Amino acid sequence: MEHQHILILDFGGQYNQLIARRVRECSVFCEIKPYDKADIGYIKESKPMGIIFTGGPNSVYGEGAPSVSKEIFELGIPVLGICYGSQLMAYVLGGEVSTCVTSEYGKTETEYDKDCVLFSSDELPKKAVSWMSHTDYISRMPEGFKKAAQTWNCPVAAMYNEEKKLYAVQFHPEVNHTEHGLSMIYNFVRKVCGCAGDWTMENYAETAIRSVREKVGSGKVLLALSGGVDSSVLAALLSKAVGRQLTCIFVDHGFMRKNEGDEVEEAFRGWDINFVRVDAKEQFMSRMRGVSDPEAKRKIIGEEFIRVFEAEAKKIGRVDFLAQGTIYPDVIESGSGDAAVIKSHHNVGGLPDYVDFKEIIEPLRMLFKDETRKLGLELGLSEKLVWRQPFPGPGLAVRIIGEITDEKLEILRDADHIFREEIAKAGMDRDINQYFAVLTNNRSVGVMGDFRTYDYTLALRAVETSDFMTAEFSRIPYDVLEVCSRRIVNEVKSINRVVYDITTKPPATIEWE
Ligand code: XMP
Repeated sequence: MEHQHILILDFGGQYNQLIARRVRECSVFCEIKPYDKADIGYIKESKPMGIIFTGGPNSVYGEGAPSVSKEIFELGIPVLGICYGSQLMAYVLGGEVSTCVTSEYGKTETEYDKDCVLFSSDELPKKAVSWMSHTDYISRMPEGFKKAAQTWNCPVAAMYNEEKKLYAVQFHPEVNHTEHGLSMIYNFVRKVCGCAGDWTMENYAETAIRSVREKVGSGKVLLALSGGVDSSVLAALLSKAVGRQLTCIFVDHGFMRKNEGDEVEEAFRGWDINFVRVDAKEQFMSRMRGVSDPEAKRKIIGEEFIRVFEAEAKKIGRVDFLAQGTIYPDVIESGSGDAAVIKSHHNVGGLPDYVDFKEIIEPLRMLFKDETRKLGLELGLSEKLVWRQPFPGPGLAVRIIGEITDEKLEILRDADHIFREEIAKAGMDRDINQYFAVLTNNRSVGVMGDFRTYDYTLALRAVETSDFMTAEFSRIPYDVLEVCSRRIVNEVKSINRVVYDITTKPPATIEWE
């Protein structure tokens, strides 16, 4: 590994990705590994600068509870245990863990020992709020440890052994509610572990371009470009690395938002790549006629996409590399077991079986979304493209409930455009993670002028989320919603009612289909 790095051992906690993101915010590279996939041999070989144990749902005394060998603390590598990780450290090193009479959950006033390097930053007061979520706690510290924090209910909210560079915190410094939590993580990775902070997107761009060049040599590279953030950043990176050896195929299935197909083409005009836009609107529409079941729609679009892409790819002849815009959360998620299929997601992940190529390359595989965005800017992509919000592979087809028609597509495009325009005007476009309109299949009675109308109901959806696995509906001010509603019913024909979706995920999903 070229960069100094921190190993994050995953014990099944819910904030693990957040820990990794915080470490990267300190300009330090890190990798998350399930605790049972990183044994002592692996650790010795990969030489991390430090190790972080995450939280997890277990109790150290539980049957089959995840654990580590004592040897891990004797390698001379600094360790930071968080929540379950802190209890595990105490337990394995001979301390004692007990169960609280009342679980501690939420914001908790915490008293810190400023002599402990984790809490030594000037901006951290002696007393501040930390975020707790636990039932067990360290009731006796192992030999050689000193207490470094406490709360009313938790006698050892943090402990450390300075000489051995072992640190443990019962609370979650990675969560925003912990005041100055980032400075604690910074102090661990930069001061205790001694990481220099060599992980920046400027450096990354340079190394990634170099390594793609070395790998690809004079080979041909193929990329399915959707116009989304990940595939666009990848196109930019590859174009700098291999120029015209890259062909990007952009399949326009006709379910894009207003002007979007042209915008994608425009964004890549003038770049040193082969850019192919396939207009497959008719083909997709003809297969969608009479189809209203959401899963059937997704399946047809997925299949048709592959067919169109394959036909286009064949025209290029043999390609050597298929590039994919996989990013780190996809990597972590796909390694974390068999979650139930809620929706069959269509994205380029399904392509490899159908295209003849030698190898897959995934240069963004180690990046989080925010890092991918930074890299995009570094490579010269526009702010607009880099901040484009997520858009599902099947596009507007899953935002029109029931059968899709050209008329409904046009209605939805216009309404969605107004909604997005108003959100941007209100300056909320970067705070809301995803916002869009859905054309319901419901019609209701209204009145316009002196006439009765019987038109469609449009739903607006806006969510705030960090991982898209759970989401809150966004608290858009009523006056912004009012402008959206007024403009939509006035400017878009066939809509006479606008509703705002106030459901969280779960139980709803973000998209309606
Ligand atoms: P749901 O609706 O499952 O959506 O809560 C979670 C996130 O995934 C996006 N999404 C998709 N992305 N292909 C994609 O690449 C798909 O088929 C697809 N379906 C949903 C959705 O927009 C949201 O960001």
